[in-house]
Amino acid sequence: MTDAHVWPASAAVGADGAMRVAGADLRALAAEHGTPAYVLDEADLRSRARAWREAWNDAFGTADVYYAGKAFLSVAVARWVHDEGLRIDTATGGELAVALRAGVPGEAIGLHGNNKSDAELVAARDAGVGRVVIDSMAEIDRVAAVAADGWGGDPGRRAPVMVRVTTGVHAGGHEYIATAHEDQKFGLSVAGGQALAALEAVLDRPELELLGIHSHIGSQILDPAGFTLAARTVLALRSQLAALTGVLVEEVDLGGGFGVAYLPGEVPLDPVRIAKDVAATVADACAELGTPQPRISIEPGRSIVGPSTLTLYTVGTVKPVTLDDSTVRTYVSVDGGMSDNLRPALYGARYHAALVSRTSDAAPVRARVVGKHCESGDIVVHDVDLPGDVAAGDLLAVPVTGAYGRSMASNYNLVPRPPVVAVADGVWRVLVRRETIDDLLALDQG
Ligand code: LLP
Repeated sequence: MTDAHVWPASAAVGADGAMRVAGADLRALAAEHGTPAYVLDEADLRSRARAWREAWNDAFGTADVYYAGKAFLSVAVARWVHDEGLRIDTATGGELAVALRAGVPGEAIGLHGNNKSDAELVAARDAGVGRVVIDSMAEIDRVAAVAADGWGGDPGRRAPVMVRVTTGVHAGGHEYIATAHEDQKFGLSVAGGQALAALEAVLDRPELELLGIHSHIGSQILDPAGFTLAARTVLALRSQLAALTGVLVEEVDLGGGFGVAYLPGEVPLDPVRIAKDVAATVADACAELGTPQPRISIEPGRSIVGPSTLTLYTVGTVKPVTLDDSTVRTYVSVDGGMSDNLRPALYGARYHAALVSRTSDAAPVRARVVGKHCESGDIVVHDVDLPGDVAAGDLLAVPVTGAYGRSMASNYNLVPRPPVVAVADGVWRVLVRRETIDDLLALDQG
């Protein structure tokens, strides 16, 4: 179909105007599961996971790809990406528990977080997670204390750790999702010397095994230059540490943040192209530094799950509003909004929408798709052309909502959160069920 980058790979529109995903008619899916609903194309998600793994393994000979579960994690998704040869990056005890419930071995899981609780560190130790990414000086002592009697049930094992550093590279579309410039809470500064001090402190602790250095520069990045610049800084730090201590750490993780297309016409970062760019930079930098190349790992989240999923809504109120310049904008209200997609309100993120339940010959109108919440910033799609006869009962689909859609959903206005329904080979299956008013009432202790 047109605008292929924004729709799941299997999406197709029939002569009746109805969209099918993996062969399933979205009208039938909505009739059975209701709306709003996140509809996930399993084969699309799996093929993106494979594409990232293959591209980075081809470019480097071997590399580890961790799926960043914060983008969206459920037991089935954890299983699928693990099946496809990926590891899992978790940021909390909750994400860790889901990955473990999926049967992913602790060894294949990483734990991040700038403020990990003792309970989270103990859960990581008990599961024998393959790496804890240390985010502050204070955390070095805390992880060492938790690992005093071993790791993963082995009394002789040290806690495997990386140190997250900030390279000063500022990347990504919005300040709140750019994480490697200096004035923010993550990591330890390379320029300020804290990164080196932390690496040396880890080497001094007999309870810790230093695997390598971690850098994550931001999210929704479309320019490869940020990754190559950060890689150079991290490799120089690695070589500086080796000169000082004689220890050349084996691994460098370049984090996630690979951008996707949200709007028709946008071009996503291509896994093959970025892997080749980074591989060339790593080879050059290591040759200049005179150090062997490290093992490389990455943590893509959005670029694996984002485009695999669309949100299906039912149209309710349609209201023409006359603007100051006397033009008309058609406000199309749907049955969800900022509780199922916070990104427009939080980041000013732009999305696309299409009528997916019928054909229409009506001339297009300039529309704004809005939600049902009590807030004028409750916008789903700022500006999109929709058929002029769009009406209550129509189904609209908003693509690329798989990343940070359900995972950042809330119960604002006590709206129950939508289900995630996966489709494969014409068959749908609920991965996360719809929340009910009873679920919400059950939390309220009266
Ligand atoms: N690794 C680390 C250490 C991260 O902090 C993140 C994202 C990722 C990997 C995955 O990044 P991705 O490939 O998904 O861009 N809620 C925001 C995005 C926050 C990203 C936080 N960290 C949004 O909706 O745009």
